[in-house]
Amino acid sequence: MKKLIEILTERMGDAFEQAGYDRALGSVRVSDRPDLCEFQCNGAMGGAKQYHKAPFMIAQDVMNVLEGTEGLPFEAACVKPGFLNLKVLPDFLASYIRDCASEENLGIRQVDAPKKIILDYGGPNVAKPLHVGHLRAAVIGESIKRLLRAVGHDVLGDVHLGDWGLQIGLIITELGIRQPDLPYFDENAAEWPEKAPFTIAELEEIYPAASARSKIDEEYREKALQATHDLQNGRPGYRALWKKIMEISVADLGRNYERLDVSFDLWKGESDVQPYIPGLLEDLTARGIAREDDGALIVDVALPEDKKEMPPCIIRKSDGAALYSTTDIATILERMKLYDPDKIIYVVDKRQGMHFEQVFRTVRKAGIVKPDTELIHVGFGTMNGRDGKPFKTREGGVMRLSSLLDEIEEEMTVKIRENKNVRADDARETAEKVALAAVKYGDLSNQASKDYVFDVEKFTSFEGNTGPYILYTIVRIKSILAKAAEEDRAAALPQAILPPENETEKALFLTLADFGTVIGEAAEELAPHRICGYIFQLSNDFNRFYHETRILQEESDGKRRSYLALLSVTQKVLEKSIGILGFGAPEHM
Ligand code: ARG
Repeated sequence: MKKLIEILTERMGDAFEQAGYDRALGSVRVSDRPDLCEFQCNGAMGGAKQYHKAPFMIAQDVMNVLEGTEGLPFEAACVKPGFLNLKVLPDFLASYIRDCASEENLGIRQVDAPKKIILDYGGPNVAKPLHVGHLRAAVIGESIKRLLRAVGHDVLGDVHLGDWGLQIGLIITELGIRQPDLPYFDENAAEWPEKAPFTIAELEEIYPAASARSKIDEEYREKALQATHDLQNGRPGYRALWKKIMEISVADLGRNYERLDVSFDLWKGESDVQPYIPGLLEDLTARGIAREDDGALIVDVALPEDKKEMPPCIIRKSDGAALYSTTDIATILERMKLYDPDKIIYVVDKRQGMHFEQVFRTVRKAGIVKPDTELIHVGFGTMNGRDGKPFKTREGGVMRLSSLLDEIEEEMTVKIRENKNVRADDARETAEKVALAAVKYGDLSNQASKDYVFDVEKFTSFEGNTGPYILYTIVRIKSILAKAAEEDRAAALPQAILPPENETEKALFLTLADFGTVIGEAAEELAPHRICGYIFQLSNDFNRFYHETRILQEESDGKRRSYLALLSVTQKVLEKSIGILGFGAPEHM
């Protein structure tokens, strides 16, 4: 579908041309003065200099042409000093909505040149419980993935597990103390038990205990570093134990992500690219891209035009160990080799901005990516508590993601039971849906790069700019349509939509007409918050229409059918939008 604004611009361009002016002046945009008009064209102002004419004269010339033109999609007025103010004609608007609504993707335009994109998001660390810090990566990443797919890109989501660091060495060390007789610690053993020596609950207790001890016990820390080193160098018992840690932890991560309705195409991790590292370091050294510095291997990435200091990217420490940067560089190498993407997008905490800048510059300098491969870091801000500090449990500890979800589901269940619109048996399931919407919408409605306050009370409210409010609107529509069906007046097809008859109705039409544009722009800007802003507006427009209109009682058959069709389109647009945001609506709530 063409955007409404493109259609208006074309027709306005024709008029400028016929009046003897450059058609590019006919560019139309959304009005700055919604009280006066819906769209405007400022071309006459732009043309004044070029044509040495007063803007108002140009505007009048264009008006004269418009007045003699038939079948225009708008009515225009010319106001001083030379604006052309436009209102879309109701007939045209209705036919536009009928066309959008008849398309399967409701007017979302597919990109001309689909890109192959790898989306790196999630980034959980194996054996550490998911905490609220991982919520944003998962929620924003999932939505960006769905958004890019909705406009036709070919996207692979990769969870990029942190599965190779010190945390594994810490667990090995702690386990070696607690259960020294396990075969994993026997250097002569070569066979390993089928069953893991811990449950997920135990594993999740072991890591924090080990981590805490390593901070106060130097010798213990040394041991953990050694264990990490031995693991990375292939000690068979440690490798076997690592596999068990992976098995248990990855299954648990999968369950957590499933609960968030987040899914990955690739479950690769830092460990997968370790085989590339020795060759990579050798190659970068041989080609003079990397240089030795105090025993470490570094790549200079500063550029003369840098305004901020840009330290070199360290790719090997003086003790020979690879770093986070090394792994990310090797991962890009592997991704280019296996998938040859046009773009790699990272949805990671914005505090890692410097890291990504260094990595991106290194791979460019080394020619690991093609000159036109785009590398993008979508850095997100911190999720804070109501005190404005990073979100914590009541006791002040790090909040586990699962506890946070439990708490909100609990709260939602109470609310939904109180509302009594849902059968008692269904309350829990409904609460889960609404809770997920509350959490995701609460996050996504903020621009990703900004810090935001996670306010449970606000996010779970059925009123205001919240997920539950959007769901409530959808449920309201569903219930009207269900009633209509009961009365044997099934929702009509889009073809039944008649022109809007008043301002409230027209506002709803205009917002619906904007859907394709908003999705296109949100995809371009990697900005799910644009979709939230849009569906909030649409819900408000719809609810106003609902309160002012007698829908089922409408006596004219044609009008009632038109209303029902309009409801059905609104529902589809809202559901498509929340699907992209990553949640769904219940039947009742
Ligand atoms: N595991 C990392 C962390 O918890 C995030 C990984 C992000 N992705 C990446 N390719 N570096 O901070």
